[in-house]
Amino acid sequence: MRFDDVDLAQLADRLPTPFYAYSASAIRERIGALAAGLAGTDSLVCYAVKANSNRAVLALVADAGFGADIVSAGELERSLAAGIPASRIVFSGVGKTADEIDAALAARVWKFNVESHDELLTLEAVARRRGETAHAAVRINPDVDAGTHEKISTGKAENKFGVSIDEARRWFADAASMPHVRLDGLHVHIGSQILSLDPFRLALERVRDFARELQDAGHALASIDVGGGLGVGYRDDRDRPVSAGDYVALVREVLRDFNGRLVFEPGRWLVADAGVLVTRAIRIKRGESRDFLVLDAAMNDLLRPSLYGAWHDIVPLVDAARAPARYDVVGPVCETGDTFALARDMPECRAGDVVAIRSAGAYGACMASTYNSRPLVAEVLLDNGRWAIVRRRQTIAELVANECLPEWRDA
Ligand code: LLP
Repeated sequence: MRFDDVDLAQLADRLPTPFYAYSASAIRERIGALAAGLAGTDSLVCYAVKANSNRAVLALVADAGFGADIVSAGELERSLAAGIPASRIVFSGVGKTADEIDAALAARVWKFNVESHDELLTLEAVARRRGETAHAAVRINPDVDAGTHEKISTGKAENKFGVSIDEARRWFADAASMPHVRLDGLHVHIGSQILSLDPFRLALERVRDFARELQDAGHALASIDVGGGLGVGYRDDRDRPVSAGDYVALVREVLRDFNGRLVFEPGRWLVADAGVLVTRAIRIKRGESRDFLVLDAAMNDLLRPSLYGAWHDIVPLVDAARAPARYDVVGPVCETGDTFALARDMPECRAGDVVAIRSAGAYGACMASTYNSRPLVAEVLLDNGRWAIVRRRQTIAELVANECLPEWRDA
C-alpha cells in the first residue's frame, strides 16, 4: 500500500513495528478544503489538539494559519511550541484548574470556553489577581442528541459539558459582577464522529436564537464557536459522512445574521484518514472455533476498538491473490478486550506479514498507554515520497525511568 507515495511495507522493513504513519499531504488537503469553505468569512479554525497532538502535526496546522482548541496546560505548551500563536488558541474543558487558567492567561490565549459557574468564578479570581481581563465564551449544552457513541456524546443535558441556556442567561445578566471577565462569546460542541447534519442544525439553531436574544438585550457578542464533531468514514460500506462543504454551508446559513467571528474546532476530520497504524502479524493461532490473527500492535497502541467497539479497516499488505480467510484480530495484551476486530474477512495472513490499520490518525497515538509495559510506538510523517520520524519509539529504560523504590518519610 502506498501512502503519501511511500510504500508502507517497505517502510516496515526499515522501522520496527508497530508505528503510526501520517500523511502530511492528506492533512494539508483537509486543511485546504476547510479553508476554502470558509473563504470570505470572519472565522478561525482552532484544531482540536487532543485528536493528534504530535508536534509535527501541530506544525502543519500552524503553517496553515489555523489556531488550536486546547484542554490542558500540556496542550497549551505543545501548541505554542509548534508555533501556534496564543491569539489563536481557545481553552476548553470542564476541569481547568486555577494553575492552568493562570498559565493560559500568562500566555495570553484568545478565549476561555467556560463550562461551569465555579469555573467562571475561578477565571474572574485568577484574572483579578493578575490584573487582567480574560475573554470568555459560555459553553452551551443545547440538550441535543448527536446520535453518536454514548462515550463521545457531549451535548445532552445529562452530559458533564456546558451549561443550560437558562444558566447562561443568568451569567450574562450578572456580567457586571465579573469585571475581569469579558463574556462575549457562545460555544457549543455536541459530540464527536457525527454523521448527520440534523443534530448540528438543531444545536446551531438553539445557539442562534439565544445569541439573538442576548444581542436584543444589549449584550455584545464577538464570537460563536461551533465546536468540532464532523465524522469520517471508518467503514466504507456503512458510514456516510457529511461533506465538510455541506457542514460549513450549514453553519454559515444558520448563523448568517451573526456578524461576529465564527470559530470551528475540528479534530478528527482533519487527521483521522491521514493516519495508519502499521503493524506485523506475530502468528496465526488456530482456535477451537475461530482463527486469531495476533498482531504486534495492541489496545494500548490503538484503544478505539476496545473502548468504543470502533471499526477500523484492517488491510494485510499481501498479494491479493491469497486465499480468503476470517480472523478475530487481536493484540498481545493480556485481556479479552484487546481485540481490533471480530470475524473479519481478509486475505490469509502469515507470521511476519505487514498489516495496516486504517483511519488511525485521530485519537490513536495520543490515546496510547504503556499497559503491559509496552513502550509507546514511533510516529512517522510521510510527505510526497519522503518520510521522517516525528516521535521516536520509547525505550523500555524510558518507560520505567520515573519509577523508584520508596524513600520513606514520616507523615
Ligand atoms: N471541541 C471540543 C470541546 C471537544 O471536546 C472535541 C472532542 C472537539 C472539539 C473535537 O471533536 P472532533 O472534531 O474530533 O470530533 N476519543 C474519541 C473522541 C473524543 C472526542 C472528544 N472531544 C474517539 O476516539 O472517538
